[in-house]
Formats: sequence, C-alpha cells, structure tokens
Amino acid sequence: MNTTTGASPEDLRNRLVDAILQQDVSGPRDARVETAMRTVPRHAFLPDAPLQEAYANKSVTIKENPDEDALPLSCASQPDVVHFMLVQLAVREGDHVFEIGAGTGYNAALLKHLTGKSGQVTTCDIAPDVTAYARRMLDATGYADVRVVTRDGALGAPEFGPYDRMIAAVGMWDLPAAWWDQLAVGGRLVVPLRWRGLSRSVAFRREKDRMWSDSVRMCGFLPVIGQDGERNGYIDDNRLVRLYWDEDQPIAPDLLRDALTHPKSVVWTDATVGSVESFDGVWLRLSATERATCRITAKPAALEAGLHRPASPALSPALVEADSIAYLTLERTADPLATEPRFRLGAVGYGPAGAELAERICAQIRAWSPARTVEPAITAYPADTPDSDLADGAVIDRPSVRLVIAY
Ligand SMILES: C[S@@+](CC[C@H](N)C(=O)[O-])C[C@H]1O[C@@H](n2cnc3c(N)ncnc32)[C@H](O)[C@@H]1O
Repeated sequence: MNTTTGASPEDLRNRLVDAILQQDVSGPRDARVETAMRTVPRHAFLPDAPLQEAYANKSVTIKENPDEDALPLSCASQPDVVHFMLVQLAVREGDHVFEIGAGTGYNAALLKHLTGKSGQVTTCDIAPDVTAYARRMLDATGYADVRVVTRDGALGAPEFGPYDRMIAAVGMWDLPAAWWDQLAVGGRLVVPLRWRGLSRSVAFRREKDRMWSDSVRMCGFLPVIGQDGERNGYIDDNRLVRLYWDEDQPIAPDLLRDALTHPKSVVWTDATVGSVESFDGVWLRLSATERATCRITAKPAALEAGLHRPASPALSPALVEADSIAYLTLERTADPLATEPRFRLGAVGYGPAGAELAERICAQIRAWSPARTVEPAITAYPADTPDSDLADGAVIDRPSVRLVIAY
C-alpha cells in the first residue's frame, strides 16, 4: 500500500526527476521527456509499493521469479534508465509507437504522453497476468487509449504497424526479423542489446537495408523470454567463478578447470580512473576487437580463496582462449599527494596463454584511455546480408541479424 511520509507524490516525483538530471549532468536532454516524467504518476502504476519506493531511482518488482537465484519476471524499470531510453527514442507528437515488455504500463503511459492524442501506443507482454495488470493500471490513470496485447514481442504487432518508433524494455540477444518489417524507414529502435556478456541500450536509426546506432548507453535488463543464445558456466569446482558468453564463441568452461590453479600474470597500464569514473568503454572496445571477449563474475568467497579481484567482481570483461583466461583488474595508486583515490587499470591472466591475453586487454585499455567517451558505431543488417555489403568492423552473427561493431 502507498503510504505518505509528508511529501506529496508530486514533490517526490519532481525530486526524482531533478536527481536524474543532476546525476547525468552531461547526458543529452529532451524537455518533452522531462515533462512526461514530471507528469505521469509512477506510484499509481505501483499501488503495492510504499510511495518512497515508487519514487526511488530503483526498479520495483511486480512479479517474483519462483527460482530465487534468478532475476524477477517483471518489474518497473529503473527511472534513470527509463529517462535516457526515452531521450534516445526521440518520440514526436503523432508518432505510432510499439513497446516490447509492458510490465506495469508506466513506460507506455510516458510514451502516450509523448505521442499526444494524435499518436498511437501499442505495448505488449508475453505474460497474460502482466498485460492484465498493465491494462488495469493504464485504465485507472487515464491512459485507456494505450493498446495492450499479449504475445511474444519478437512477433511485433503487424496489425497496428508500421511504427515510427519501437522500444524494447527487456534485454534482447537478437533483433527479430518482424521488427525490420514493422519499423518504418527513417524510424528509430531503442533496444537493450546483449553481446559478449555486456548489455547496452542501443538507439538505431532505420534505413532501407540497415540500421545505424547513434547512441549507446550502459544498462542492465531482465533477459527476454524466447531467446537463449547466451551461455554460462562455472570454471571452478566450488561454483564461485562463472563465465557468460555467446553461442557463436568457442568457449568451453571445462577446459579452464585447472587455469585458476596456475600462477597468475598481472600486467598494468598507466591509465587511471577515479572511484566513480566509468571504464565501461574498455569492454565495448574489447567486443569490437577481440572475438574471445566474454564476462566473468566472481562471488566474494572466490576472492577470499585467493582469486585476483576482477575490476568489478559482479561483472567484468574477460578474454578466453582454450585453457587460458585473462580479465580486467584494478588497484589503488600509491600517490601520497592525491586527494581522491585513483585506480590503475590492468589485466590478470591465468593458464598457459594468460600473460598474452592480459597484454591484449591492456592494449585495449591503452586505446580507450585517450578517448574515453567515444562510442562504437554499431550497424545492424538483416541476417541474409552478404559479407561484401557489411561495413568494416567486428561481425557478430545472430539468427536474425548481423551486427558490425567498429571504432
Ligand atoms: C522490465 S519489464 C518492463 C517494464 C515496463 N516497460 C514498465 O514500464 O513497467 C520487462 C517485461 O518484459 C516481459 N517480457 C519478457 N519476454 C518477453 C517477450 N518475449 N515478449 C514480450 N514481453 C516479454 C516480461 O514479462 C516483463 O514484464
């Protein structure tokens, strides 16, 4: 139940939007998105959450997963991510919009606010209980004109298309062929895309035979139901260190069983970061240059047992080839004059080729360091596009799309 603690929902909503804009001070702005977020009552889409929780910058679960180790089945996405994805989408008055992942219906209401009366919003969810929830919330908040359909979003909704804008609110691993047919030429697609263990919200502009990215932002999302091209496996007997990779990569965790028992090789660069500075671009560069890029996660017990600390133990980029692995790491610099702590970036390798893989990660840290905010260009092509028509860059093939990532 919503309970108040003095501040009104409007006050809390405005404070949340102010905090999002302040936190992302250099990010792109869209005054219409800001107005929509100051207007649509998020708490009304989360009637079981306390008011403070509805206006915290956090995702709010509406459907738990029976598997306690897995992510929830449905939630309202984190508001700062909702904000930047809507800025990426650039909805205009009168647009026809399709959303994959209705969840609470909150984002669909924001989309309707942006299209105005002359536009149309269709949202879908794969789970009938979730679409029933979204329908109820949209009706109760004055957004009865948003269409809600129950289906696998990979099919789109051709009966209401074509669309000027499409947005996925769930982590996609492939770009379904139906979306190419339903997104108008000149339209925009914003999608949390997963590749090589990372997840980024990519904004594409559609042309006739390809889509070009013009914005790539860090995000994390629930994985879509129905696409399962990401693999994972433990590389230690205690099930504390896990890798995530794509099915097209020749990674076999069993080959790595002994790797972590070998002596480690640590390689350092001169690149440093502050404690809140992002080094996220290193992973993007690795994915554009190294086919062996994947993700490592290490539980605290693995570090206590002697594993060299990954830069971020919950998720860091790694390179794996056969029986060897290397991953990104960092250490605090020993500068007695520094007022703020700084951290030097490097890589640690295990296994016969560990030192060489660690050197290759350091090469990408060095390439990233002088131009840290440069985003990769990601181009998506239909799956039947011949090699000769692809842009230069690293090619990642999925059943329905060919992605090319380049710097
Ligand atoms: C993060 S939630 C969406 C949040 C929502 N946009 C909101 O504003 O509350 C992701 C949703 O995607 C749905 N989903 C997962 N796989 C799907 C699929 N293949 N097609 C459609 N919806 C899917 C889940 O049921 C879940 O409700």
